[in-house]
Amino acid sequence: MKIEHTIQGVRAALRSAKASGKSIAFVPTMGNLHAGHIHLINEAKRRADFVVCSIFVNPTQFGANEDFGSYPRTLDRDGTLLAEADCDLLFAPAATEIYSNGLNQLTSIHVSEVTEQLCGASRPGHFTGVATIVTKLLNIVSPDMALFGQKDYQQLAVIKQLVHDLFLPVNIIGIATVRDTDGLALSSRNQYMTELQRSKAPLLYQTLCNIRDALQKPDSVADEIIARAKSTLKQGGFKIDYLSVHSLDLNDFDASQPQAVVLVAAHLGKTRLIDNLVFDLQ
Ligand code: PAJ
Repeated sequence: MKIEHTIQGVRAALRSAKASGKSIAFVPTMGNLHAGHIHLINEAKRRADFVVCSIFVNPTQFGANEDFGSYPRTLDRDGTLLAEADCDLLFAPAATEIYSNGLNQLTSIHVSEVTEQLCGASRPGHFTGVATIVTKLLNIVSPDMALFGQKDYQQLAVIKQLVHDLFLPVNIIGIATVRDTDGLALSSRNQYMTELQRSKAPLLYQTLCNIRDALQKPDSVADEIIARAKSTLKQGGFKIDYLSVHSLDLNDFDASQPQAVVLVAAHLGKTRLIDNLVFDLQ
C-alpha cells in the first residue's frame, strides 16, 4: 500500500490507475480504524479496481467543547490494518495541507434543512465541517464511488444532498452498520467508556429494536412508544440528546410509508453515542 501525505502526491499516485482505466473507490475516515471501517474497505474492494482511504481528523467538524484534541490518532496501526485489507492508497494529510489558509476558510459548503435537526441541532457547524471536508477530499481523489457507513445516517443524507446539488461526478454508497456481538454499533468513541458504561451501552440498540417492534404493530402510537423508550434509556443511565422516528428522507414520521428510521444520540458519562435503525412498517 502506498502512503501519501500531499494532494499532489495523491493525484500523481492515482494518475496511472486512472490512465489504465481502473475504477476508483474512496473511503474517507478519521482513523482509529475498527472493523466497521475495514468493512467499508472490503466493500470498496468488491466494487472497484483501486481503493483509496483517507485518514484525517478534520478540525472544522468538531465543536469548541468536543473531543478534537483527545480523538484517538493511531496512524501506524491504521496503516497496518489497511495494508492487511489490501487497500491500495492511504492519504494522510496534515491540517496545513487541507486548510492552507488556516481554519477560518473563505469557502465552505453548507447544506441546509437536512442539517438543521438531530445531530445538526446539538452540534452547530458540525455538518458544514463535514460537507466541506468531504467536498475537498472528493475533489482531491476524484473517485468513481465513495463509501460511507449508515451508522452516521444523517451524515450520509447530507453527503448525498451535496453531491446531488453540486453535480459531483461520484456515486455515493451507503453501507450497513457493523455491530459488536451485543448489538453496540462499532465506533472509535466506544473506547472512551468505562467498563460499567460499556456494559450498559447495548441498551441503545435494544431500545431501537423495541421501538421498531412496537411500531410494526397495528394501531401503534409513535409518540407514546418514543416517550416510553426515552424513560427506559434514562433509567439505563443515558442522557438523551434526541430519540425520534422519521421517514427515510428525515422528514416527519409517516406511518403510511413502507419504511421508517429511528435515530438516537445519547451520552453515557462523557461519551456521546449515536445509532439508528431502518425498518419496514408493513
Ligand atoms: P469516521 O467516524 O472515522 O467514519 C468513517 C466512515 O466509517 C464513515 O462513513 C462512517 O459512517 C463509517 N463507520 C463508522 N462506524 C461504522 C460502523 N460501525 N459500521 C459501518 N460503518 C461505520 O465519519 C467520519 O469519520 C467523518 O465525518 C468523515 C466522513 C471522514 C469526514 O471527516
